[in-house]
Amino acid sequence: MKKNIVLIGFMGSGKSKVAREIGRRLKLEVVVTDDLIEAQEGQTVGQIFASKGEPYFRDVEQAVIKDVARRQGVVIDCGGGVVLRKENLQVLKANGIVFHLQASPEVIYQRIKAEPHRPLLKVPDPLGRIKELYQQRLPLYDQADHIIDANDASIEGPVVEILKRI
Ligand code: S3P
Repeated sequence: MKKNIVLIGFMGSGKSKVAREIGRRLKLEVVVTDDLIEAQEGQTVGQIFASKGEPYFRDVEQAVIKDVARRQGVVIDCGGGVVLRKENLQVLKANGIVFHLQASPEVIYQRIKAEPHRPLLKVPDPLGRIKELYQQRLPLYDQADHIIDANDASIEGPVVEILKRI
């Protein structure tokens, strides 16, 4: 069986760019869980949070993860909150190698402060919110099979590191 390559990590850790580059180099399909959720719901992630709430989004996300985790030999770019349900990591690990792209809250803030589309960060103090969520989630992200340093602005380091470890 060909294992999936699964990327998890905080918003702005570079999962999407790294996933696309790995897909390109290995000629593998890249599956983006947020895109599947948006296609299925006919709404953006922001609209789903606003109209139906986060628990609804997490239910849809869990169903999508269960589905994509059954596939083989694909790169899976997961939304930053997938670790909030432990079943998600279980199913992803069963069929894949899970990589945590780890970047510090300060680096994350610098990367995403100009991007308006993340509902969880539409608050008066986004850096404070990032730090708080980061502290809560770090032990969950660290349950990945591999932890990859993603603090550098270039994605080359994480890409090479992941390719070395598969
Ligand atoms: C979320 C991360 C987002 C998206 C949603 C919730 C989170 O994905 O799924 O806004 O809880 O961390 P990205 O990590 O791709 O931004």
